[in-house]
Amino acid sequence: MEDLKVVIGSDHGGFHYKETVIDYLKARNIEFYDVGTYTRESCDYPVIANDVAGRVASGEFNRGILICGTGIGMSIVANKVKGIRAALCGDTYSARVSRAHNNANILCLGERVIGEHLALDIVDIWLKTGFEGGRHKRRVDMIE
Ligand code: RB5
Repeated sequence: MEDLKVVIGSDHGGFHYKETVIDYLKARNIEFYDVGTYTRESCDYPVIANDVAGRVASGEFNRGILICGTGIGMSIVANKVKGIRAALCGDTYSARVSRAHNNANILCLGERVIGEHLALDIVDIWLKTGFEGGRHKRRVDMIE
């Protein structure tokens, strides 16, 4: 596995899964930074998504994880930041291929959509899978 530096954030709708994913990261000694939110109080997902996306785009972190109720708002915002390839995943196949083919640098999850154990499997696969490069690199370069 490459050296992982993960930045993670959620709104209130993804708060519980954020805490669960942080437990996963701590148990594996994966370096991470939590931009919040830090309570269950209602907050605005665009602020969190923009913060995480900016930190990945700048190279401060090489992976980002964003969680909200559906993952949709987070992915819409993150993908507006240049250099970000945010993948909203609800299954493990997409999680793996978003890394192998799309070199996704942000994973988005929907706490109100998928179960907790599936979310953790998705995180595990997404963090462990490398980019295949080759023909996929040419296509990813076309995005930029
Ligand atoms: C918050 O209620 C909800 O809209 C948010 O978590 C997310 O699902 C937006 O895409």
